Amino acid sequence: MNDLLLNKVHDESRQGEAYAPDVVTGDYSRRFYIESYGCQMNFSDSEIIASILQEEGYGATRIVEEADLVLLNTCSIREKAEQTVRKRLGEFRHLKQKKPGMLVGMLGCMAERLKSQLLEEEKLVDLVVGPDAYRTLPSLISQADDGQKAVNVLLSREETYADIAPVRLNTNGITAFVSIMRGCNNMCAFCVVPFTRGRERSRDAYSIVAECRDLAEKGYREVTLLGQNVDSYYWQHPETGENVTFAMLLDRVARISPLLRVRFSTSHPKDITDEVLFTMAAHENICKYIHLPVQSGSTRILQLMNRTYTREWYLAKVKRIREIMPDCGISSDIIAGFCTETEEDHRDTVDVMEKSAYDFSYMFMYSERPGTLAARRYVDDVPADVKKRRLEEIVATQNRLSLESNQKDIGKTFRVLIEGDSKRSKQDWMGRNSQYKVVVFPKMDRQLQPGDYVDVQIHSCTQGTLLGNLIG
Ligand code: 5AD
Ligand code: SF4
Repeated sequence: MNDLLLNKVHDESRQGEAYAPDVVTGDYSRRFYIESYGCQMNFSDSEIIASILQEEGYGATRIVEEADLVLLNTCSIREKAEQTVRKRLGEFRHLKQKKPGMLVGMLGCMAERLKSQLLEEEKLVDLVVGPDAYRTLPSLISQADDGQKAVNVLLSREETYADIAPVRLNTNGITAFVSIMRGCNNMCAFCVVPFTRGRERSRDAYSIVAECRDLAEKGYREVTLLGQNVDSYYWQHPETGENVTFAMLLDRVARISPLLRVRFSTSHPKDITDEVLFTMAAHENICKYIHLPVQSGSTRILQLMNRTYTREWYLAKVKRIREIMPDCGISSDIIAGFCTETEEDHRDTVDVMEKSAYDFSYMFMYSERPGTLAARRYVDDVPADVKKRRLEEIVATQNRLSLESNQKDIGKTFRVLIEGDSKRSKQDWMGRNSQYKVVVFPKMDRQLQPGDYVDVQIHSCTQGTLLGNLIG
């Protein structure tokens, strides 16, 4: 069984996706190929990397054999993610033998975690570049061209790549991701991110709004504001001293155009404020959906995880969200089998899931990561088969909750943003409602296209999809 189980296919379906703009133009003398793993932040970073390389005269390709520069933008969140990348590096070995001069670069979180160790142990890697060092890629490439070791894993307290206009890769032209902050200061005991992505810093609010406006002008209909912990976004103008909180930023982005939907991810339950919830409620185009990872439903485990809230506090937050926005979708991340977790702790997790009535969840078995607080302080003592069984119970619970949530939507009418053809049939459109649920409906003979908003009445559902018909 996978260490990751999603009851909803989301970005995980894109792991290892080869990334290039849809139309590759220009007479480039060198081409790069990039594969991205991990979270949406990493996919968003790949768009910054592409922009830096294009400035240097590199063209993108989706065909690895065509590339002079092969890049893996990697993830360290669970051991499995690192194993996948190591396997992939092995596959590039004979490619490198066939094509002398081809460079292979390891970027992102795994580069940051393993540093120059990678150059020594894996003779396959020519470049190692951490998440805050992408501006130095051009000089690192020339070093590697000269046969030198090229490593830059310095973390920064300031870098936000605010001035770099990302090159949109694999885009549907409708939905885009905009990075608003980098790093994380939370120190959850299980998590490698504070070590791989460094201290938290917020991006210039004006550059964020400008990027979103530019997307809206290009016809995009949805932006997702990205950060490890968006609710602690806080930016101060260096000259005027003006302060911008996350709620203020949301408000500014929402005012760009009523046709531009606004989403955000990820929220830490301890930081999401009433001000944010009221801002969401005040704007029709801020989607009514919050990803609010609980991680565990046991107060004792939450304490060990350093999450800084109790199960009661979390449940009160869910209640508050529903008070202010009764129709708000809520999803979660859940870890099964964290250090010392007992059956009772596990039952508490299932109980919080029931009480929160999540629409969907991302569910994982605990995977110890070297260097984290948990790895240093606690023993990873829940046996693999127990972790697996608990994860299965968590997944079964979520599958039922997802189905129940979707069944409640039968008969309702939702405003849906069309994203493209349904995966199953070209006769159907696929889009999402405000709550982030996938809605599939027949095209009929209406002249519609991706990016259009339509009203769809739901007549039936599966666990992962709402099915309906156009109305009006
Ligand atoms: N083991 C298992 N899952 C983890 N996550 C983060 N670190 C670990 C780990 N060591 C999960 C958390 C987080 C999501 C992105 O990945 O649930 O919210
Ligand atoms: Fe993976 Fe976390 Fe790094 Fe994202 S920030 S790539 S999830 S380790």
